[in-house]
Amino acid sequence: MGLSSRRTGSGRTQSFVRLATSQESGLVRDLDNRCFPPDHRDLQRAEPGELESGVEAGDVRVLEQDGRLVAYLHADSTVPGRIEIAGMAVLPELQGQGLGTRLVESCLSLVEPGARRTVAIVTITSPRNLRMLHILLRHGFLVRWFLKDHFGPGRDRFGLQLAAVENWEADDGGEQLLVPVSRLEFLCRKVEREGWTIVALARTSGTVLFVLARCRNDLFPPSAAPPGRFSGNGRSPSPGLGEGKDPSGLRLRSQDTERAKPFGQRFSE
Ligand SMILES: CC(C)(COP(=O)(O)OP(=O)(O)OC[C@H]1O[C@@H](n2cnc3c(N)ncnc32)[C@H](O)[C@@H]1OP(=O)(O)O)[C@@H](O)C(=O)NCCC(=O)NCCS
Repeated sequence: MGLSSRRTGSGRTQSFVRLATSQESGLVRDLDNRCFPPDHRDLQRAEPGELESGVEAGDVRVLEQDGRLVAYLHADSTVPGRIEIAGMAVLPELQGQGLGTRLVESCLSLVEPGARRTVAIVTITSPRNLRMLHILLRHGFLVRWFLKDHFGPGRDRFGLQLAAVENWEADDGGEQLLVPVSRLEFLCRKVEREGWTIVALARTSGTVLFVLARCRNDLFPPSAAPPGRFSGNGRSPSPGLGEGKDPSGLRLRSQDTERAKPFGQRFSE
């Protein structure tokens, strides 16, 4: 359990991560409702019963700050050999203060290093949720799947998986592709049809970019499948995408990419 404190104007703030208790299901649900507005294209509320069963299963961790629950992370472990971060949220007024990062780190600290080679640790998030993507990419998750219209028309999602090893090297001589985050159709094609993986976010000349690389298959546990309520077969082509029209994406060698933000550094808003 990570206990930490920091000074505020009115005194000392204490916060720690712990498992949610059965009595707290309603509070976790309230948190989810506050953080995920109804019918939002990029933020999907938990299904009825989802968080409640997660709490009962001991899969929901909460961050308690000064006696109140301010954030949660649901790491669904009901499928053997697989952990899915099914939901995560920080109260709107406390976002951007490092609490989400603490929850992800607390969750990953439970996974023994060797287990990363056998347990598939997966999650989904919107391609537009750059804050969440930044946290995941910084902590070793990679975008393996583009889940077109996952939650309905226009509600695309990225499927991410934690790499089996911490320090990995891209294939193909380290060749990378930098693609503006807005070029979703192009990204979809690269990830779903051409086998590229998104490995980082970068910023150069005021443009935010995804960094794509080719990763070896053994970078992931073999049992991996796309996360969530996905009814397709993972890497099959997604319907309705334009063919070969999108010119975005700079093909760069890794030394060029270093002019953008290098992997693993902090990304300021
Ligand atoms: C997503 C969420 C859980 C993140 O938690 P948080 O406490 O706000 O995030 P943190 O403060 O720990 O970290 C934010 C990081 O994103 C970075 N960031 C913020 N805005 C960014 C942007 N537009 N582009 C890239 N990175 C960004 C910050 O710089 C920070 O990174 P750093 O630590 O390297 O500086 C929280 O914002 C939230 O609850 N959002 C609404 C619900 C949601 O999106 N849940 C996840 C759905 S899958």
